[in-house]
Amino acid sequence: MKVVVLAGGTSTERDVSLISGKMIYNALKKNGHKAIILDVYLGYEGDTDDIFEKDTDWAGSIAKISEKNPNLDQIKAMRKAGTKGFFGPNVIKLCQEADAVFMALHGQNGEDGKIQATFELMGIPYTGTDFVSAAMSMDKGITKDIFYANNIPTPAGIRLKKGEKEERKVPFPCIVKAACGGSSVGVTIARNEHEYELAKAEAFKYDPEAVIEQYIEGREFSVGVMDGKALPVIEIAPKQGFYDYKNKYQEGSTVETCPADIPDDKTKEMQEIAERVFAALRLKNYARMDFMMNHDGEIFCLEANTLPGMTPTSLLPQEAAAVGVSFEELCEKILKFAFR
Ligand SMILES: Nc1ncnc2c1ncn2[C@@H]1O[C@H](COP(=O)(O)OP(=O)(O)O)[C@@H](O)[C@H]1O
Ligand SMILES: [Mg+2]
Repeated sequence: MKVVVLAGGTSTERDVSLISGKMIYNALKKNGHKAIILDVYLGYEGDTDDIFEKDTDWAGSIAKISEKNPNLDQIKAMRKAGTKGFFGPNVIKLCQEADAVFMALHGQNGEDGKIQATFELMGIPYTGTDFVSAAMSMDKGITKDIFYANNIPTPAGIRLKKGEKEERKVPFPCIVKAACGGSSVGVTIARNEHEYELAKAEAFKYDPEAVIEQYIEGREFSVGVMDGKALPVIEIAPKQGFYDYKNKYQEGSTVETCPADIPDDKTKEMQEIAERVFAALRLKNYARMDFMMNHDGEIFCLEANTLPGMTPTSLLPQEAAAVGVSFEELCEKILKFAFR
């Protein structure tokens, strides 16, 4: 099958996406597909004739994820002056020529439904969930409202627009996050007024809307759902601090345990909540939900990730491995979903 692995882009998770793309590309090649990797924003300016038939190593030039999220101004400056629109040269053309697009994008303009909506209108098969559920899941404020409406336990919180007056303050310690962020970029814990002001300024760097919620002290987990059915629970224990950008992508900085060492009833409860989140947000095909559990064993869902990471430290592939599904098999399953 001819597959475009779409990666990169202009979100804060650009680097993560390129590594997800590289891993997916290598898996698809092993599975016998004719794959290419395209940066959705920078595109490809070389010769596109018979591009899927050529023996190019598209993954070779992709390095590793640095400790900090990338400088996006640098990426934007790489585009030719006068280039219009988001899609880079030849991206749409090659996506149309392919049998399917494997979405390896994370964050804005990738995980938020816009590209999915474009592809739907153009009749291009793509992996992952559809545009409505992607858009609802990308915005943590909307996600929380849907959680409240569906009795899905989530930390108590508020939505706040930049410059808007706060009606209700969340008690300290609280967590402040950019509404449409990802990979913990723009997420900070605030324990006092001073930290709170800094935390809000940090979140508003990335999005004009923030979500402020109760800080849950305890253990962290994640649960993938494939086709409506929960995978095993994975526990995430950073060696230092919380599960921030560095702890997410620097190998060895976080201990991941799958299946998580928690009582069976807690596993069942978390899996059941993950499946309810999947239904409530009208997710399709696959997604991964993030959770916290406090010291009393109460479970809170933080968010849904509709294009979860596929890097060497990523959680969904580890959960799949725990039920005997290899990375290559996981990619194949996800690719098949594109045709439903
Ligand atoms: N309410 C909370 N209580 C404690 N920790 C939190 C809370 N919300 C977020 N975190 C921490 O911040 C990380 C990122 O938050 P999350 O809501 O998953 O956003 P994203 O992963 O999209 O950046 C979580 O993995 C967790 O470690
Ligand atoms: Mg998360």
